[in-house]
Amino acid sequence: MSNRSDAASEPILVVKSVERRFGGLVAVSVDHLEVPRHKITALIGPNGAGKTTLFNVLTGFDHADAGHWKFDGVDISGWPAYRVARQGMVRTFQLTKALAGLTVLDNMLLGASGQSGERLVLAPFRFRWRAEEREARERALALLDDFGLSARQNDLAATLSGGQRKLLEMARALMVEPKLVMLDEPMAGVNPALVQSLLHHVQRLRDEGRTVVFVEHDMDVVMSISDRVVCMAEGRVIADGTPAEVVSNQAVIDAYLGQRHARAT
Ligand SMILES: Nc1ncnc2c1ncn2[C@@H]1O[C@H](COP(=O)(O)OP(=O)(O)O)[C@@H](O)[C@H]1O
Ligand SMILES: [Mg+2]
Repeated sequence: MSNRSDAASEPILVVKSVERRFGGLVAVSVDHLEVPRHKITALIGPNGAGKTTLFNVLTGFDHADAGHWKFDGVDISGWPAYRVARQGMVRTFQLTKALAGLTVLDNMLLGASGQSGERLVLAPFRFRWRAEEREARERALALLDDFGLSARQNDLAATLSGGQRKLLEMARALMVEPKLVMLDEPMAGVNPALVQSLLHHVQRLRDEGRTVVFVEHDMDVVMSISDRVVCMAEGRVIADGTPAEVVSNQAVIDAYLGQRHARAT
């Protein structure tokens, strides 16, 4: 056994020299980034900074042109998304991916991609698959209850409001019991009444011992729930520190905050 108390203080994710280019455009060029365990890290930066691309690469939805990254001590560079998820790192999408033609409950069950039932080699062991299926259903129902979606379990996801779909996507991500949850603009397009509920859920994830990274543009939200803030611009990490440090950083003001203020006034 490795020494768990040492592991607990180590960053859950360490990114080294990761690059993603699209033709001549360098969308992501991150020399070094560490995500602290059991904390909420906000990822901010202007549109086009590379935030979504970085999420895509790290979670196996896109490939890197260079670099490597370790999750919980394991080099997962280049792993496909389903393996990354089984390892304990999941993400949600800026534009929700809930499958509109499936029920809320079936969307949840699809999230349980760690089931051995889908591995053909184990398919003959039906008893085992059934037990896991039952567990998955129980877990799905408990999560739907947590997220206030129980009453909608048999409704098509298409009938949910935008905010409810965001909740469904977050709940679905939790089906694999992730250690690290990456949320890409979880509050975008959500009506103010549901924003508080989403914020509460994000904080609860941390309080349950998970680690959260989330992309957010609303600085009030960022300041209220983040333990740490990372700012990207033009593919690079330009600041990394406490919320107070990052909002007063001149490079962040120049690249992002000042410009937003100017637009808003
Ligand atoms: N599939 C793609 N093909 C070409 N360019 C892309 C692709 N995905 C993203 N980009 C470009 O990469 C840059 C970073 O985009 P993105 O990661 O979506 O930024 P953010 O999420 O910070 O707004 C942008 O210039 C965007 O146009
Ligand atoms: Mg984005």
